[in-house]
Order: sequence, then structure tokens, then C-alpha cells
Amino acid sequence: MAFDKNLFNQMIEALTLDDAAVEQVAQNFQQDLQTGLEDVEKSSLSMLKSYVALPTGKETGEYLALDFGGTNVRVLRIRLNGGGAFDVLKKVAKPLRVEGVYDYIGAGSKAEQMFDFIAELVDEAVEGDHQTKFLLGHTFSFPSTQTNLGNARLLCWTKEFATAGVEGEVVNDLLLEALHRLGIHNVEPVAVINDTVAVLLAAAYKQPDTYIGSIYATGQNTCYLEQFGGHPMVLNMESGGFNRLTPNAYDEALDKSSEKPGLQRLEKMTSGRYMGELFGLMLADLLGEKGRKYGFTSIDMSNIYLDESEDLHDVAAIIADKTGRALDAADCALVRRLVGAIIRRSARLIAATFAGTVRQLDTEMPVTKQHIAVDGSVYEKMPLAKDELERALHTLLAGRAEPVDTILENGGSGLGAAIAACMSKA
Ligand code: GLC
Repeated sequence: MAFDKNLFNQMIEALTLDDAAVEQVAQNFQQDLQTGLEDVEKSSLSMLKSYVALPTGKETGEYLALDFGGTNVRVLRIRLNGGGAFDVLKKVAKPLRVEGVYDYIGAGSKAEQMFDFIAELVDEAVEGDHQTKFLLGHTFSFPSTQTNLGNARLLCWTKEFATAGVEGEVVNDLLLEALHRLGIHNVEPVAVINDTVAVLLAAAYKQPDTYIGSIYATGQNTCYLEQFGGHPMVLNMESGGFNRLTPNAYDEALDKSSEKPGLQRLEKMTSGRYMGELFGLMLADLLGEKGRKYGFTSIDMSNIYLDESEDLHDVAAIIADKTGRALDAADCALVRRLVGAIIRRSARLIAATFAGTVRQLDTEMPVTKQHIAVDGSVYEKMPLAKDELERALHTLLAGRAEPVDTILENGGSGLGAAIAACMSKA
């Protein structure tokens, strides 16, 4: 079959944001940020307090770090050596869901089982040592309200997590109870931070000039250092919830069929968890199977975009595998363009949120050169994503006296949690 060209062109148009549109998003974002600082009820940004500022770089000692925010949970034992240096002494990791074997995150799963599973991982990381006292930093990558660095209550799950009994609860209480059930009394959870905060702390530990941390992965979110009249504190904006956007019909369909309709609108247009699904919805329409879901992932999208062969055989194979349909090279080329348009839109939207945040910082601090620390598979591995993001950011901040770039902070979730555990002692 040959795709309907009109329909295809409409799709590309519905995904295209010119420079003026991106500039508008940046302005809307900064406005929502400022509104949120005044009255969070009036903003789509949650502006959650983290009760932590930036590290000095001199932090030292051995800590446990729990990284809980996606399908994979990790526990690390990390030694901070100061001067931005550290060693990972032990690392254990396990998925929270193994298809057909167990599932701690889907509907039907429960808090107690999930935290028991995590406590067992902690036990592995301390290698059964139930004597030595360990302080644990917890990178918990979901929107939580805090009253201090150690106390975080989950507001609501995002990223399609659905485990019962966690929303509204203090997560480190659930963790501590599970550790006690397992006979572990020497591990003390002392800090909970969002993964964006972890990335910022990790980057700032190694180098100055970094005030913004972001995740561009399964989920998408950004934090920054707010000044609060001389009392700096990192704010987790939960920018994946930003909603002053113009979603197209496919974005609307995706949102409607998600776990939390109406929420996380920016995230649903940009993050790895949703991009494959969005692509699938659009492709289904082109294939005359509107509404069908094929289970495409962002990795499929990467592989489609990476196929530069003349006959686009990888593209054809991926499409055949997921849809059972055989496409000729011409349609495969259109599929590849569609993938490019989805990634490009995602990156440009995120650049707009970065620019809005940098402009906000510029109203509060001297304008200096700065880095935006980013972690995540989309930023790191998805073709086009980083380049398009940087290009759009450059255009948006063209009038700024000092340059801004993005840097990869790989593994910040673990390191940041260890730093936060250390900073909890201050
Ligand atoms: C989701 C979560 C947020 C997290 C982000 C990246 O947006 O709500 O807390 O930072 O995913 O993992």
C-alpha cells in the first residue's frame, strides 16, 4: 500500500513547531514558573521544594544510594572522596517488572511487596552486613511534597506506575518498614530527592556553573536552584506537567488512554515512555487501522531513524515485526520522516522549557556562562534529540551575553543520592 500523502503531510504539520511557536512556549513556561512561585494552584508547574541547595564539592564518606524511578531499581554503595571524585563500591540492580514472571508496578501490585523487593536489594548492596551503620540517600523520581530533606510524600504516580498504597504515603516510611521486616536496622534513610535534583547535585559536585538539572528519559522533568532571597533551594518543577501547549489529535488520544488523563501533558509529548506510543498511533492511522496499538518503544524509534540504508530494510523489518504489515521503501522513508518529526518536536519543546528557566535565573543572578545538566536515555542515545535541543536552545538564547550548553550527567541518580545523604548531616 502507499500511504495517503495528504494525511501524512497533515501529521508532519501537526508535529512542526517553528521558531516563533517555540519562543512562545519558552515565554509561557517562564510565566507559569513565576506564577507557580507565587501561587502553585494557578500554575501547571508544581514547584516542589527539595530542602537542599548545591553541594560544595568537598563532601566525603561512604553512603548507600537507592535509585527508584523507572522500571529498573538500583542500589549502590558509593564513597565520596571530595573534590568532585567518588567511587562506586557496589551496585545491584533489578527490574520491578519481568513480563510473565512478576510485576510490582502495574495495576494490581501493592506497596508492601514492592518495598520488600527493594529492601532485599538494599540487603544485597550491604552484602548482608546488619551491623555497620549506613546512611541512605533515596532518589525517588515521582512528584512528592516534602517538609524536610528526609520526608517525602508521593503526590501521585506518573510514568504509568499504578502500585496501590503508595500515593499519599511517606515513601521512606514504607522503605524503613520493609527494611525492618527484613531484619535490617542499620540502614537509615535520611534523604529523598527527585532524580532531576540528583542530577543537579551530581553535576554541581564536579563543577560549578550548573544550576539546572533535567531528566530526558522514560519521564521528562527539570529542577533549578531558586534563590529565595539569599536562601537558595533546589525546586523540582515537575515540568512534565506543563500544559500550556498545543496538543494535536494524536496527543489527545494518547492522553485519554493513559493512566492519568489530563496530567503530564508535556511529558506525554516528549518523553521516552510515550514517544513510541505516539508514533504507533500515527502509524496506525496511516495503515488504515486507527486506534490500534502496536507497542512501539523509543528504542524502535531510534533504530528506525538510524537506518540510513537505501532500501531501509531495518525500518521495514521493525514495522513488519510490530504491525504485521509489509511496507515498500517509499513508505519506509515516510515512516522515518515521521519518527524524525516526533523526536524534533520533543527536543524543541524541552529546549523551550530550558530557555524559560535560564531566563528566570537571569532575573535572579548575574548572567554567567552555565551548563544545564541532563541525564537520560533519550538525551544520550536517541538520534537527533540532543542536537535539536541544543540548536533550539541556542536560537532561543541568542541574545544572551554568556553561552549556555547542555552536559550529560550520566549516573547522577546514584551519585546525587549519596551527596544528599551526606548533606543531610549539615
Ligand atoms: C516524571 C516524574 C518526575 C521525574 C521524571 C523523570 O515526570 O513525575 O518526578 O523527575 O518523571 O524521571
